[in-house]
Amino acid sequence: MQPEIGIENVKKILGGREILKGISFTVGKGDIFGYLGPNGAGKTTTIRILLGLFQASAGRVQVLGQDINSSETRQKIGFILDADGLYNNMTAVENLEYYACIYKVSNIQKRIDYVLAAVGLKERARDRVGTFSKGMRQRLALARSIMHDPDVLILDEPTSGVDPSGQIELRKILLDVAHTEKKTIFLSSHNLDEVQRICNRIALIDRGEIKRYGELEKLKKEMDRGEVVIKMAAPISESLLTELKGLTHLGLQDQKGTVLIFSPSKDTAISDIVSLLTEKGVKIEEVTKKEASLEELYSAIVREVEQ
Ligand SMILES: Nc1ncnc2c1ncn2[C@@H]1O[C@H](COP(=O)(O)OP(=O)(O)OP(=O)(O)O)[C@@H](O)[C@H]1O
Ligand SMILES: [Mg+2]
Repeated sequence: MQPEIGIENVKKILGGREILKGISFTVGKGDIFGYLGPNGAGKTTTIRILLGLFQASAGRVQVLGQDINSSETRQKIGFILDADGLYNNMTAVENLEYYACIYKVSNIQKRIDYVLAAVGLKERARDRVGTFSKGMRQRLALARSIMHDPDVLILDEPTSGVDPSGQIELRKILLDVAHTEKKTIFLSSHNLDEVQRICNRIALIDRGEIKRYGELEKLKKEMDRGEVVIKMAAPISESLLTELKGLTHLGLQDQKGTVLIFSPSKDTAISDIVSLLTEKGVKIEEVTKKEASLEELYSAIVREVEQ
């Protein structure tokens, strides 16, 4: 199936430096794709290229199977850039009307009512945008980005600068929009937690190179060290700790207070560990399997780069 966004071996030279060093990835229909990377990695540069604001120095860029510079393709893309681009002296409705005229939206008033309701700004429709909080501005920017009912949304850090409760609200709105309006979303973010909550696929970019790319769950599985954490009623004795450490298949790492952490071998089941401890008279309160987080994946990659 044709990808909604396809970037192949794209390079960008700016100010004599190679900012993007031949990056490639695809975004499929219905994906919520997280584009993660530290400051200066090249996220905004990639987004500018995707929107046709920068010309790639080399490589191929396609959105919806077409060249991004065709007006037909642009009509099918909605976006939020790093600066929200809203007019402070105009009301929310006026900002949307202005945008609707540029994009030749039909039935403007109906669509404005719909998008303002979708982002929870109906009450503030007639207020000047200069009086809006950061969270409200970002919600309005999102409303504006979907005004012309695009197929693909390209968002540069849509929740940046918004407080935690505002971020939760924005993410909820984004997910609603993705599902009810069936949009493909490409969003850049520093926020690992955010990406983990809403994205199904990701690419990690650092210093102009894609370091990891694919389904979030698969990437997390690759990282999974299969750690098992066992909480006990009381700490075990030093002698039992030494004895258990001698059983290498258990992979006992340490005792922290009343918690034991194991990295068992592949053929050791969690139940094997539990029954062995029980035999030794250990009272177990809780057993959990530790899942790899995106944070671990991210820091492993940053470490790789620093080596
Ligand atoms: N117009 C430009 N001329 C020269 N260098 C530029 C230009 N725009 C960006 N850069 C450089 O390109 C690199 C990548 O910048 P970019 O804005 O794409 O990073 P980013 O991943 O979006 O970072 P952030 O998380 O801070 O937004 C940076 O080193 C930046 O200084
Ligand atoms: Mg940026």
